[in-house]
Amino acid sequence: MAVPASDTAAVSVPPAAALRCPQCLGDARLERAGDGWHCSRCLTTYPRLGGLLWLLPAPQARIVEWRQRFRLLENELQAGRQALESQLAAPGLAAPTRRRLERLRDGQAAQLDELRALLAPLEPEASIARLETLLALRTRTPLTQDFSSYYVNVHRDWVWGEAENQASLRLVQDLLQGTAPGRLLVAGAGAGRLAYDVHQTLQPELTLGLDINPLLAWVAARVSAGEEVDLHEFPVAPRQGGDVALARRLRAPAAARAGLGFVIGDALRAPLLDGWFDTVLTPWFVDIVPQPFAQVAAQLAARLRGGGIWVNFGSLSFNQRDPALCHGPEEVLALLEGAGFEVLCVHERELPYLQSPASRHGRIERVFGFAARLRAMAAAPAVLDNLPDWLADAALPVPQLAYFQTQALANRIFAFTMALIDGRRSIRQIAAYLVEQKLLLPHEAEGAVRSFLVALYEESQRRARF
Ligand SMILES: C[S@@+](CC[C@H](N)C(=O)[O-])C[C@H]1O[C@@H](n2cnc3c(N)ncnc32)[C@H](O)[C@@H]1O
Repeated sequence: MAVPASDTAAVSVPPAAALRCPQCLGDARLERAGDGWHCSRCLTTYPRLGGLLWLLPAPQARIVEWRQRFRLLENELQAGRQALESQLAAPGLAAPTRRRLERLRDGQAAQLDELRALLAPLEPEASIARLETLLALRTRTPLTQDFSSYYVNVHRDWVWGEAENQASLRLVQDLLQGTAPGRLLVAGAGAGRLAYDVHQTLQPELTLGLDINPLLAWVAARVSAGEEVDLHEFPVAPRQGGDVALARRLRAPAAARAGLGFVIGDALRAPLLDGWFDTVLTPWFVDIVPQPFAQVAAQLAARLRGGGIWVNFGSLSFNQRDPALCHGPEEVLALLEGAGFEVLCVHERELPYLQSPASRHGRIERVFGFAARLRAMAAAPAVLDNLPDWLADAALPVPQLAYFQTQALANRIFAFTMALIDGRRSIRQIAAYLVEQKLLLPHEAEGAVRSFLVALYEESQRRARF
């Protein structure tokens, strides 16, 4: 697919006319403020970071969260390096093991430099928190998203995933059945390849990719604009020792034509006015978010004009604790009708998924896809937040939830027990101390301390995620 390079700066995406304050929602327009935007209602300023608008609610708090996650990741990679160095220093290492560990060490060191360059807009050095503080206050919003989430997508999108990417594009084409996408929103656009391919091939008027993860959004924006980005790949199950860490260069077939843009934002608390888009595309998105599907459908419907089309595909592996919310395909279709959509077509198809040529691990997914037309623009639905108000607004009191109280006591016992580990005491001596303090009964103490230490030890041996 050879597409001539063009000047993406010529069309401003997202267009100012589509923006609203993600905190106030409704029709709260934004005004320009330097490089970013400002809401005169809640007085929040949304900056531009790494060339992209940072349109998350409570933007500064979210910058701090991602910054701290990066610091944690830096710490983990550095600790990993030390562990590798001491393994390499041990006598008697077999030559292939030595080569593999050296390759892993060098790959991780290079990856850290690559990530530092890519994530520089977060200004990680602005955080001085110690590792212990970062670990204790580790943030998780939403629960499943961090730098490691969907890292493999980056290489699938821009290095080796041509067959997978083309299969996804064909599915979108089949679901759209020839309808022109018009103004297209890709919610949860990830590293951006499908947004790019649809933009290049189906020629929407404009394409806006929205994602909550800044690493992915920055990769999407830079690579689709024609830049090359270096980022190491670490295959899940390397085919051979040399595949344990691979230097990869991410590049697009050509710079995208004008009209493709990316924004860092929450698709379910969208910084976008209601009824603005003709098409919303959600690839592999609806089941990984914490909100129930009915709520997701209502929020996505609000992005569409009356008659607009929602195209969705992916698995239906709902990330919900409540089994009633882990819908099957027939329930999804009924919920679509309930949200004001008319289902136009449904496709089930087997697609290759994350089949890195350097990995023995690769999947075939039986994907469920639909296209549905919004009958008429509905009243804006209430945003069912992933998090309560007292978490979004730093000035509100934090409630004494029963769980918090239990955790406070559990953490005190945890800290107390940890403090008893001094390099001299045995399990028996620690247990005797806890019995003396009336925290445990004599017949259970040794077993309890041992299982506590087993869990802690196993955690220390687990491979670090970032
Ligand atoms: C399973 S990945 C799919 C990525 C991409 N659509 C693809 O097919 O490769 C889900 C994506 O949704 C993003 N995401 C999760 N919650 C989101 C939210 N509330 N708003 C926007 N993006 C979100 C994640 O960061 C991730 O990029």
